[in-house]
Amino acid sequence: MAKRTLRVSKIREGTVIDHITGGHALDVIKILGITGRTGGIVTVAINIPSKILKVKDIVKVEGRKIASAEVDKIALLAPHATINIIRSYRVVEKQRVKLPKVIRGIVKCANPACISNSDEPVQATFYVEREEPLRLKCHYCGYVMEKQDVLKQF
Ligand code: CTP
Ligand code: ZN
Repeated sequence: MAKRTLRVSKIREGTVIDHITGGHALDVIKILGITGRTGGIVTVAINIPSKILKVKDIVKVEGRKIASAEVDKIALLAPHATINIIRSYRVVEKQRVKLPKVIRGIVKCANPACISNSDEPVQATFYVEREEPLRLKCHYCGYVMEKQDVLKQF
């Protein structure tokens, strides 16, 4: 089919989060704290055909940068996402999110009895057993967390 129209406009200034795992655009919006009641223009595209991912989502946030703590959370849900910084309509920086092998301090262990949930000064630590779909194993109690458990915390 001929490409007749541009699906979503390019932005002048801001951040484009591209190659988001299909179905997770609204989770990314939540991670970024976007409620839609304040702030600038946000464009969300869901179920866009993609060669690499079959379908992908895209979130474009105008006039805003993304903090590294937010990038770390996005990596848990969308390990193939790219963060594109846009200035004067140009991509001036492109960064692929990266899921480290060990996750510290971003998510809590879902096992209430885990020592990382006690008063002890122990930071929640997980091993990434599988990236997609996500599977994390707690270093302290061995509890296995999946994407849904992580989503509940964002
Ligand atoms: N984009 C945008 N506004 C701009 C420039 C780019 O919204 N002024 C978007 C593009 O639509 C694309 C993403 O930012 O979704 C990355 O742009 P670009 O690097 O030009 O696209 P690709 O080469 O297709 O990126 P990749 O190689 O990461 O797939
Ligand atoms: Zn635990």
